[in-house]
Amino acid sequence: GAINESHVDQEVTLYGWVHRRRDHGGVIFLDLRDREGIAQIVVDPDTEESFATAERIRNEFVVMVKGRIRRRPEGTINKDMTTGAVEVLGKEVVILNAAATPPFPLDDYVDVGEDTRLKYRFMDLRRPDMLNKLRFRSKVTSYIRNFLDGQGFMDVETPILTRATPEGARDYLVPSRTHAGSFFALPQSPQLFKQMLMVSGVDRYYQIAKCFRDEDLRADRQPEFTQIDIECSFIDENTLMNIMEEMVREMFHDLLDVQFSPFLRIPYSEAMEKYGSDKPDLRIPLQFTDVADLVAPVDFKVFSGPANDEKGRVVALRVPNGASISRKQIDTYTKYVSIYGAKGLAWIKVNELEKGAEGLQSPIVKFLGEEVAMQIMTRLGAENGDIVFFGADKAKIVNEAIGALRVKLGEDLDLYTCKWAPCWVVDFPMFEETNDGGLTAIHHPFTSPACTPEELEAAPEKALSQAYDMVLNGTELGGGSIRIHDGAMQKTVFRILGIEDEEAEAKFGFLLDALRFGCPPHGGLAFGLDRLVMLMTESQSIREVIAFPKNQSAACVLTQAPGVVDNKQLKELSISVRKPVKEEK
Ligand code: AMO
Ligand code: AMP
Repeated sequence: GAINESHVDQEVTLYGWVHRRRDHGGVIFLDLRDREGIAQIVVDPDTEESFATAERIRNEFVVMVKGRIRRRPEGTINKDMTTGAVEVLGKEVVILNAAATPPFPLDDYVDVGEDTRLKYRFMDLRRPDMLNKLRFRSKVTSYIRNFLDGQGFMDVETPILTRATPEGARDYLVPSRTHAGSFFALPQSPQLFKQMLMVSGVDRYYQIAKCFRDEDLRADRQPEFTQIDIECSFIDENTLMNIMEEMVREMFHDLLDVQFSPFLRIPYSEAMEKYGSDKPDLRIPLQFTDVADLVAPVDFKVFSGPANDEKGRVVALRVPNGASISRKQIDTYTKYVSIYGAKGLAWIKVNELEKGAEGLQSPIVKFLGEEVAMQIMTRLGAENGDIVFFGADKAKIVNEAIGALRVKLGEDLDLYTCKWAPCWVVDFPMFEETNDGGLTAIHHPFTSPACTPEELEAAPEKALSQAYDMVLNGTELGGGSIRIHDGAMQKTVFRILGIEDEEAEAKFGFLLDALRFGCPPHGGLAFGLDRLVMLMTESQSIREVIAFPKNQSAACVLTQAPGVVDNKQLKELSISVRKPVKEEK
């Protein structure tokens, strides 16, 4: 990929893979590929031995070529190739290794099914597109290291064999041979270790850290993923967010030539109100409008029920110029929102507003009545040609369903107003309700509340935290918080979460100990490196930017992991495996 006209007449030795071999009546062309690009080799019959070798070469053979660089003849110059003005006249061609026929062609993108690509990942990664993603990922990590080193951050490694760190997922467990019946947990994040490093006086820490979470997989989730993990002492929310924002802004500028304005900071409550999501995609100009007060008195139970329920929510989503969406498409959207638990998707097409309810086309206007329907139109600022969708249910369902619809409409109708829309979401609540009526930490239990322990205990469900998320195009890039550095506050939070003092000592005694011995005020954040690189390379999934990812069922199809182990190994670990439940039945 590096040879060009300035090298004409030089003798070179090239190593690589044969991307393609072409026989042109008496002359053989080899496209020789390495990670930097492709060079054209010409072998003619005058060099008898090399010609005979070249005849035996097939795609993906590994070869060495010695030859002289020359200009390509007029009319055969390839402007699409960096090496397209030159070729190498091959004098000596040596086959270093043969290759079986590749399981799929490597030149263009071919849709071969992801499991096949993952099974032959070593081949898949030969494709320039994939290699470029790996190369870009490497650029991102070295950029980040440079930036953080420059800001006085210290790279410290933390253990992989450790105890559970609660980040909301299931743990991956590793049985201990030397402590029969006991298990290590792989870290869901280095959270507690980085906090203890602050107690040690490290002051500014970072690590490009592997994290492990046994959770449901999606396009932006892997069971094993990488965080850019950061922690700082003697710092407040604002300063920390500013440093992190500067890092991301400079990186986008230097690596992608993208210039961000200062990031919007959106309170969690506003994000939920306007977008139904704590990771709003701000490229899409659509917003929720609450209409519960308007529909509370109507006879239509689907709307008035949630409108009169404390936990209910009724919202309208106005889509300018959306009236052309077909009935069939509306049915598709109705099915789509049902994935999120919505029981239906009411809509109104605004055909001729000047005619009042007559000019509205909808299955629900007859239930709402003309007056309420028109009040809704006024509040929305509706115009002819719009469509308005409605969600009415428990707030959680409405937020998820209509929030997802908003994103889907943005995609389907190409409503994006810009290519990149970063923001911070701030002022998260401390806790959210679990299905069984208890409370769980929204970030993690080590996050500092923005109030006193007394206020927290009096009304935990109302308390805000000092947590912040960085969001880009609807993806949560990173999240963090100012931490609790006071033992009493930490115990209070544990108690609210239903972890009594005794259990707290057993599980987190080391942390409570550390808090006792002069723990500085501190805070930090972790970015999802895979997600960051996925967005920067405009990839569809984080699997595209991880060299050896797991598939959708959390398995490695390349190495066939996880696999069974033999009885001897199990015995050493004092483990006996129950038969899979299905067989038992
Ligand atoms: P959190 O759990 O929000 O915070 O994780 C931080 C970031 O890691 C990324 N991420 C993932 N990426 C791929 N696959 C996954 N399964 C996955 N889970 C999370 C996301 C997320 O924003 N210890 C805290 C950070 C802190 O408070 O400093 C933590 O882990 O991009
Ligand atoms: P129904 O009377 O149940 O047929 O509903 C009338 C209209 O309201 C249909 O367009 C449904 O799709 C819609 N609908 C039903 N339940 C809901 C809901 N929970 N939220 C929004 N629209 C709904």
